[in-house]
Amino acid sequence: MKRIFSGIQPSGTLTLGNYLGAMTHFVDLQEDHESFFCIVDQHAITVPQDKLELRKNILSLAALYVAVGLDPKKATLFIQSEVPAHAQLGWMMQCVSYIGELERMTQFKDKSDGKEAVSSALLTYPPLMAADILLYKTDIVPVGEDQKQHLELTRDLAERFNHKYNDIFTIPEVRIPKQGARIMSLTDPTKKMSKSNPNPKSYISMLDEPNTIRKKIKSAVTDSDPDIFFDVQEKPGISNLLTIHSLCTDKEIPEIVEAYQGKGYGTFKADTAEAVVNKLAPVQARYAELIHSDELHQILDDGAAHAGKIAGSMLQKAERAMGLGRKRK
Ligand code: AQP
Repeated sequence: MKRIFSGIQPSGTLTLGNYLGAMTHFVDLQEDHESFFCIVDQHAITVPQDKLELRKNILSLAALYVAVGLDPKKATLFIQSEVPAHAQLGWMMQCVSYIGELERMTQFKDKSDGKEAVSSALLTYPPLMAADILLYKTDIVPVGEDQKQHLELTRDLAERFNHKYNDIFTIPEVRIPKQGARIMSLTDPTKKMSKSNPNPKSYISMLDEPNTIRKKIKSAVTDSDPDIFFDVQEKPGISNLLTIHSLCTDKEIPEIVEAYQGKGYGTFKADTAEAVVNKLAPVQARYAELIHSDELHQILDDGAAHAGKIAGSMLQKAERAMGLGRKRK
């Protein structure tokens, strides 16, 4: 059985983008893959976080993983900082990375743009991500389109390590969904929807109340011409809502376009909002049962123990390959 690994940062409450672009695929993939889904809290601290919020977000993300349908009997769910091998191999992967290639990463450029004080960890985020993936001999990494460049770097670093030291790492493949790979911001549909955007109107949180969802979609930025059709260049706002509508109703985009001809944006937006509310309702109900439960802590304890064994053994191999530590008799 092929192995998959993916992670999500607890850098805010997850958005509809995280759900449609990543989590729904995780749920499908767990059926026929050995799966590892991580809460990458060490990635989250590459930008400033409020410590109480961070702790809240970590547990909230764990509850959402289970609430969307990830089954701890099929998939290993765990917190990155509870498996120390991630940071340990992350350091070693930094040692095989070049500053120039890290500086070329779009996410680094975007997140550091215009900021005076940027942590060095924002630059060295991709080698840690490489470590996350390589520790599990991952075959496939399901992610949204925004992570493609980091995945390409992971492959380069793994190949470089294998060539220079010892052929121990599996070279992972990236798996990007055909639809929903990039859900866009509601206030600027040329930018991706992000949970750390300071304007909450730009995203739909997976835990937003139904009325909040309705208001946000009603005020989503679109153009003034009332025609509904899919064209990302000409109609980025409407195309984004069409993608969301399609993924929340399982209807194809041409079918939706056809159904709303001549009806105007008002009806289309109202129905899109209902589709989102209905899609999130069962997730929110299951979340409410889990968030204060002991069950959730047990799932994370078991996940960290299982992931720790696999990751620890790969870390040892990597240390040996690089010549770290002592040779024992
Ligand atoms: N808007 C999106 N559309 C489709 N997929 C998305 N993903 C994120 N945003 C969208 C996918 O969700 C997974 C987890 O992402 P992450 O939280 O680890 O990091 P990110 O990509 O940086 O997500 P955010 O929401 O934008 O976080 P912040 O604001 O903290 O940087 C990944 O598979 C990602 O592709």
